[in-house]
Amino acid sequence: MEYLTMNTGAKIPLVGFGVFRVPDKEECKESVLTAIRCGYRLIDTATAYDNEDAVGEAVREAIEEGLCTREELFITSKLWVGDAKNEKTAIEGAERSLQKLGLDYLDLYLLHQSYNDVFAAWRGLTTLYNDGRIRALGISNFYPFMVANFCETVDVQPAVNQIELHPYFVQNDAVKNMKYYNVVPEAWAPLGGGRYNPFEDEMLKAIASSHGKTVGQVILRWNVQRGVVVLPKSVHEQRIKENIDLFDFKLSEEEMNKISSLDMGYGDTRTKHFDPEFVKLCMGSPNNYGK
Ligand SMILES: NC(=O)c1ccc[n+]([C@@H]2O[C@H](COP(=O)([O-])OP(=O)(O)OC[C@H]3O[C@@H](n4cnc5c(N)ncnc54)[C@H](OP(=O)(O)O)[C@@H]3O)[C@@H](O)[C@H]2O)c1
Repeated sequence: MEYLTMNTGAKIPLVGFGVFRVPDKEECKESVLTAIRCGYRLIDTATAYDNEDAVGEAVREAIEEGLCTREELFITSKLWVGDAKNEKTAIEGAERSLQKLGLDYLDLYLLHQSYNDVFAAWRGLTTLYNDGRIRALGISNFYPFMVANFCETVDVQPAVNQIELHPYFVQNDAVKNMKYYNVVPEAWAPLGGGRYNPFEDEMLKAIASSHGKTVGQVILRWNVQRGVVVLPKSVHEQRIKENIDLFDFKLSEEEMNKISSLDMGYGDTRTKHFDPEFVKLCMGSPNNYGK
């Protein structure tokens, strides 16, 4: 595994394991355990995924089995929008995440969306950061102007911004802006999130076969090589293994550019960040998110 260093001084693995849309608790626990066995150390969950408890169980079992220590793991969760109302609700939301996960501390805790009173929520989360229960604070789905506004305003700088990043939504400017502010870019849906069918793309297939790798590995490597942490999700052992095996090959500049040329300039059309209806949905119960 290779790592980046966050602005807190702590290291973050370049490949993590995502568990969005794995609502079945047993399946979630088993896939996290498989991921840890395969060498993943970063696990990415959220209040809204309703599986923090299953992730916590997998973590406890992994430690009991001697697969890793708590210190080697990097556990991320996210504050739900409804809990970003004020300082108190943000503290309560983070404490609920810790309780559900059964952990003393989180390695990273993100504001899941840029909605509600993000500044008040940030001040609330800062109290947990200062007492060590959250080791790094971050944001998610913040567009470049929001990252700039946020970083220019808050005292504790965000360590990470998790946004949609894959070859069909390259967002070079967003990545550049995050690097300017020393915020680590993290990619959600790094494989395209089950859309675009990259696995049948002839150009990607040719690049993959020239390196003796799969299309999935090429797409993930493309992000890793430009300094972006990837969080592929899978519930299949073979894919879980495949998605972390990214460090024995390198894409040429020409290959990087060819892959970037797939850019469509927009992302997941189901996640309508600019749609008032999506904002309203996020203000409500997390149970409606991602359905
Ligand atoms: N912050 C946010 O707002 C946000 C939004 C979305 C996601 N996320 C995070 O990012 C993580 C990843 O995003 P995502 O789950 O939407 O998308 P993704 O990881 O890009 O894609 C997952 C899809 O690809 C399939 N897949 C996985 N590995 C594969 C491989 N090697 N070959 C072919 N297909 C493969 C999976 O199916 P199987 O499971 O059947 O293998 C699943 O359908 C999430 O789990 C979550 O942690 C965050």
